[in-house]
Amino acid sequence: MRQKLFGLTLSCVLFLSPLSVGAQSGRIRPGEQWRDNHGHLIQAHGGGITFWKGMYYWFGEDRSRDNDPSKRSVACYSSRDLMHWRFCGKALALPDPEHLGSGWVLERPKVFVNTRTRKFVLYAHLDDAHYSFARVMVAVSDHIQGPYRYVKSYRPLGEESRDIGQFIDEDGSAYLIFESRPTHGFFIARLTGDFMNVEKTCFIPAPLEGGAMVRVRGTYYVVGSHMTGWEPNPNVYATAPALTGPWTEFHNLAPAAARNYGSQSTMLLKVVGTKATTVIFMADQWRPNALWDSRYFWMPLRIGDGGMHLPPPRPWSIDVTTGEATLSAADR
Ligand code: DGJ
Repeated sequence: MRQKLFGLTLSCVLFLSPLSVGAQSGRIRPGEQWRDNHGHLIQAHGGGITFWKGMYYWFGEDRSRDNDPSKRSVACYSSRDLMHWRFCGKALALPDPEHLGSGWVLERPKVFVNTRTRKFVLYAHLDDAHYSFARVMVAVSDHIQGPYRYVKSYRPLGEESRDIGQFIDEDGSAYLIFESRPTHGFFIARLTGDFMNVEKTCFIPAPLEGGAMVRVRGTYYVVGSHMTGWEPNPNVYATAPALTGPWTEFHNLAPAAARNYGSQSTMLLKVVGTKATTVIFMADQWRPNALWDSRYFWMPLRIGDGGMHLPPPRPWSIDVTTGEATLSAADR
């Protein structure tokens, strides 16, 4: 009761102070509106996080209603604690780069840091309104927050590519995960030295999208969703001792009836602290008729005994120094 009263008091203070709205009392609240330092809804859908020089940068689809309708935008936010996010501007505001026509698509942007070339390299899924172009696009910048300059589009490994994901291994190697419908599966492909191309690492014969990956205590975990458009479905995971496999069968992350709590995977973010390692399941709760108001579903995963479990949503917080995640008592 005291906690609830305290929560109410805090909410009132935050309501009166638009600059603090994004703080949401220092908690991550899956499925609720999440605001930046200006009090605007965070626009980082289908996104990913890049850690650079002590700062987390969150990139994603900017679906703002007042965007120029002829362009597709990627927004960038920065944070030191993963809970309070500062808007850094549009990293990319791209006019149709390949004569794709009306309704063209830029989805699931991810930013890689190339320490050799000292460039920041943005990958995204690029497509026409019918999803038949099926390529990745590449844009580069000298600064992490952009602006990014369009370089090219291509089909990785010569294959159709739709949803993409990002994985950085513990040795710093960078991988693109991409779904390829005609193959009935998805690829894990290592980026070449300049990050302008990929080479095959592994093909997983499972028709999954929203691919994401993490390595914990020597085991690789890959997650993905089934292909049901914007509709949620039970997301699944498999494990392997090496990126090249062998991979286990896929298992549900949460009870099937929960349909992943209405969310679809976009990234697994590992936070290694002084006391604990937390893996955050980052996902989107899509609102296809109001994509700008699609919600974020972030929860710490339970990992152990070779398995991975996504708990039901509740407010929680993370200490990025210790790596500890604290789930709140049910406070609403
Ligand atoms: C599911 C994908 O994961 C999303 O990124 C988006 O492409 C929708 N399909 C479109 O239906």
